[in-house]
Amino acid sequence: MLPGDIMQSNPLGAPLENEDKFDLIIASFCLTAGCHTEADYKLAWKRLATLLSPGGVLIVTEPLEESWNEVGGTTFKVLSITADHLKESINDAGFHVIKHVQEIYTPGWNDGNDPDKNKWHFTVTKKM
Ligand SMILES: C[S@@+](CC[C@H](N)C(=O)[O-])C[C@H]1O[C@@H](n2cnc3c(N)ncnc32)[C@H](O)[C@@H]1O
Repeated sequence: MLPGDIMQSNPLGAPLENEDKFDLIIASFCLTAGCHTEADYKLAWKRLATLLSPGGVLIVTEPLEESWNEVGGTTFKVLSITADHLKESINDAGFHVIKHVQEIYTPGWNDGNDPDKNKWHFTVTKKM
């Protein structure tokens, strides 16, 4: 795992040479946690694209339409994005969707009664 900041134009500190680019990046519950606006979110996808080799795979999983989250007892605000905004961000950043699953109810996390906590997506994309 590599530390990086998706809010920086070079998330890993400096632009990557082609030979240093990645074949696979996984962003699990990070993008909506790190981004403050829909514009940030779109840029995040574009920045991740700069880290991948052509044909590289980016897997993103995160909540949809969720405004807060909690880890280890700490509650924090997350960016609420819609499935449409996700799709737009993927297209604008030059990715092709290989697999997209969304709106999975997670038993144990919530009983389906809190509208802030019942949608998330798992999306496998390929850089075109
Ligand atoms: C809900 S946790 C997810 C942790 C882990 N990836 C997982 O799936 O369990 C949100 C993560 O987003 C990361 N994060 C917050 N702001 C970020 C940023 N600007 N760039 C990259 N990661 C960020 C935090 O460090 C934290 O690890």
